[in-house]
Amino acid sequence: MRLDKILHSQGIGPRKTCQMLIQRGAVRVNGLLCKNIKESFNPIDLNFSVYGDEYTYQEHVYIALYKPTGYECSHQTSHHASVFELLPNEFNERGVQTVGRLDQDTTGLLLLSDDGQFIQALTHPKKHVGKVYVMTTIEPITAIQIQQLEEGVALRNETGIFKAHDVEQLDEYTLRMTIHQGVYHQVKRMITVVGNHVTQLHRSSVGGLDLPVSLEVGEWVYLTAEDRAKI
Ligand code: URA
Repeated sequence: MRLDKILHSQGIGPRKTCQMLIQRGAVRVNGLLCKNIKESFNPIDLNFSVYGDEYTYQEHVYIALYKPTGYECSHQTSHHASVFELLPNEFNERGVQTVGRLDQDTTGLLLLSDDGQFIQALTHPKKHVGKVYVMTTIEPITAIQIQQLEEGVALRNETGIFKAHDVEQLDEYTLRMTIHQGVYHQVKRMITVVGNHVTQLHRSSVGGLDLPVSLEVGEWVYLTAEDRAKI
């Protein structure tokens, strides 16, 4: 693959910018200066640097972000900052998208990738990927509410019923549950339907992959192949 194309595919910038960087001598490939935009390399595991910043070629990127409150999962936000501001610009340049969405006031595990098939596999309604949420409620949680959640509730303007799985009451006001769909505000709406109200919501796991314990709020890590196999 041509060097300018490799740089562009890695989110270094538009093709013209990549060509300019190469011609200016800003780019080294496997440690060697390369000023020829047309020179071809096998991109697999290729190491290159731009003004000394090191990169290894990756066909796609897979990221786990510990989403803080106050961030929206969209590029064009209206009232809050964007989760994309928490990531290096290369990810935005190469078209990284969120895998589903979390509300601006929800914290926890948010996956992102530029691999359309990966995103589709995790968000397709027929795949029933389990997402684990821990929530705090305004009123004490009752046994009847838990039973209703387990049996399934109807949500306005949505078809079908929405069930909570593996429901576990952690204390009077805290509940952990798994959902397999992902409609707008699903958890908050389910809790409202049973007569309570969510004051805090946190996602701890997606498809069997837990929020990495090493992550602080606002930090991200690459998912390993092992992580991806878990999902
Ligand atoms: N359900 C919600 O209500 N909000 C989220 O952010 C995620 C699931």
